[in-house]
Amino acid sequence: MEYYSDMEFEVDDFVFSNKKKIGTGTFGRVYKVNVRTSSSQKDLGKFALKVLDDRHDPEPKLMRRLGHPNVITLIHRFKRRGRVNVLYELMEDGDLLKFLRQHYSDPEGLGIYTEVFAFQLFRGLAYLASKRVVHLDIKSENLLVSRARGTLKIADFGCGRFIPDGRWQSHSVGTLLFNPPEILMRTALCSHSADVWAAGVVLSEMVLNRPLFSSWAKGERMQLRNIEKVLGPWTRADCAKMGVEYRRPRLRRPRRSLGKVFRKLLPAGSGTHDRGALLDLLRQILRYRQDERPHPWQIMAHPFFERIISGREELPNGRDLGHLLHFTDEERADARRLRFDVPKRRKRRRRKGRRGTARERQPEE
Ligand SMILES: Nc1ncnc2c1ncn2[C@@H]1O[C@H](COP(=O)(O)OP(=O)(O)OP(=O)(O)O)[C@@H](O)[C@H]1O
Ligand SMILES: [Mg+2]
Repeated sequence: MEYYSDMEFEVDDFVFSNKKKIGTGTFGRVYKVNVRTSSSQKDLGKFALKVLDDRHDPEPKLMRRLGHPNVITLIHRFKRRGRVNVLYELMEDGDLLKFLRQHYSDPEGLGIYTEVFAFQLFRGLAYLASKRVVHLDIKSENLLVSRARGTLKIADFGCGRFIPDGRWQSHSVGTLLFNPPEILMRTALCSHSADVWAAGVVLSEMVLNRPLFSSWAKGERMQLRNIEKVLGPWTRADCAKMGVEYRRPRLRRPRRSLGKVFRKLLPAGSGTHDRGALLDLLRQILRYRQDERPHPWQIMAHPFFERIISGREELPNGRDLGHLLHFTDEERADARRLRFDVPKRRKRRRRKGRRGTARERQPEE
């Protein structure tokens, strides 16, 4: 290994240059870097280099199992100055939270991006479930996006676990705001349905530009209360099914309608998505009982994603959305095994002897 300077250094036939900080997290710092091969000086382009504070990090080990269009690709891993460095593909628009802050107040709002990003988040979660990996820190800062390509990739597997039997005894991990009730109640076994809950919270954040459950919570108890305020109190039967000891809910009132919460936070007519379909989907995802939450494959087939399935919509830059439905053979086999249908793009029908639209016909009439 040869050092030029911190701005330019060489490791394993790669020369890294123009290092610029793009993110800081709990476990390290992330830089944008240019990379070229040192032998042939071939430019390989821009990448993201994560420099971990800790010598031992589970993330690279876990990520070696993974390869999917909606999971960030790990390219190389090396040690430098006693720290683990991990090279990832670069997502040019950074994380989803940054994207929301930049584009929520655009004239069209997020427009089709709400469905485009949410669809890919659930597609990534279906893949992780098939690999028996739980992420446990799904939140908008850990989802990386590209506006021009219309892609979303799940990143930051620092809290992730490989759970061969599909369940894991969890204590509070990740970020309180996105933790499902079974984790906040501490005693439950959690599974991929914990990530589905967190993804539901991300989806509502994309629509509201603020967290659905109040973000002000000092600990698990307070966060549970924030959830209760929106979903209503849980029952004894809920706790039994969740696998947690019954504790009395603070609220006595019946479930408050999610529709009312949205009406209060979001003026009618804002956003281009179908509000009815969105509320229906969120009602299905945000359930106390893990077994009542839908599998990501079922979520992808929900009418909320109609604009992707219909084949009529495209990105603002004219890019077709067909690539979102190009499922790999591995994904198709997983859906078949679980007896779910893979969402298919509806074919656009062409009418024979089309006479043109009313507007086109007008001049002759
Ligand atoms: N491949 C990438 N492309 C573009 N930006 C990235 C990439 N990886 C990380 N970032 C940026 O760096 C931030 C921190 O990265 P990451 O979440 O992986 O680190 P972390 O230390 O584990 O964070 P935390 O534990 O606080 O969630 C991200 O929120 C994102 O803004
Ligand atoms: Mg992070």
